[in-house]
Amino acid sequence: MQQDVFDYLPVYRRLSGWFAFTDLLVFDALLDAQTASGTTGDVLEIGVMHGKSAFFLARKVEAGQELIVCDLFEMPPPGAANAAENAASYPGVTRAAFDRSAEQLAARPPRVLQLASALLGEHVDAGTVRFAHIDGGHLYPEVAADVALAERLLVAQDGWVAFDDIRTPHAPGVAAAVWPALARGPLEPVLITPTKLYAARQPDLTTRGRLQQRLLDYGLELEEQKVFDHVLLRVVEDLDTGPYRRPSTWRGARVTRGLGREELVQRLRGAAGRLTRLR
Ligand SMILES: C[S@@+](CC[C@H](N)C(=O)[O-])C[C@H]1O[C@@H](n2cnc3c(N)ncnc32)[C@H](O)[C@@H]1O
Repeated sequence: MQQDVFDYLPVYRRLSGWFAFTDLLVFDALLDAQTASGTTGDVLEIGVMHGKSAFFLARKVEAGQELIVCDLFEMPPPGAANAAENAASYPGVTRAAFDRSAEQLAARPPRVLQLASALLGEHVDAGTVRFAHIDGGHLYPEVAADVALAERLLVAQDGWVAFDDIRTPHAPGVAAAVWPALARGPLEPVLITPTKLYAARQPDLTTRGRLQQRLLDYGLELEEQKVFDHVLLRVVEDLDTGPYRRPSTWRGARVTRGLGREELVQRLRGAAGRLTRLR
């Protein structure tokens, strides 16, 4: 709910990471919509870094459900290409720092699996995850394996997955791995933001409808497109002023540079203020 977003803003501002504010709004809306539809299951994130997206997910996990997070942290990745990617993109990510932050900032403690996502299938049961955020290795082999894993781990009805960096220029392997899988099924593409693609196994129409309505309520502009006979909702944002327009030293700038983000934050603040006053 809106209050979760509002309450999370100090953490969101404090942590560096790669979690666009628009996607925070989508996570909020989607997990609430699933809950309202009666969809149950655990929540999984592959690739946590400092926990910017994971700690928000920790707020959305319901009683009896678990947040499972998977990251290599400082462990050497299985392949040379994945090792080079991590050294270049995520220097200084450590398990100890994540655990310290989790203790302070996570609404409930996640179950942390420090291992390559390729091994995750041995630790999580098939058909038990209601939402998976795939944000680990961004090279084709890792993403292709993570897509196959998500297909196996998601609950068969209304199980959703978010694929990070689906259309970023520096990670073409993500799109190469994700779109062919969606063309094959069983995952259907449902929503695309400038950063992530959201797909689902047999998405519940009520979940989809509630998600759409909440995003409109949050002030996002949506457009419908047809992809593989599925209606794909696109969050309309200007990429020239959005998260991709940044110099190579942009780390952390995604939050402040996005079109309308400050305005949206102000609006949420106002709405949260009104909610508080109504109580
Ligand atoms: C883009 S960052 C995650 C960003 C994070 N979700 C956030 O909100 O800021 C990618 C993370 O994936 C991890 N990673 C890379 N390759 C991995 C692999 N093969 N298995 C598990 N984690 C991996 C890295 O250590 C890094 O922390």
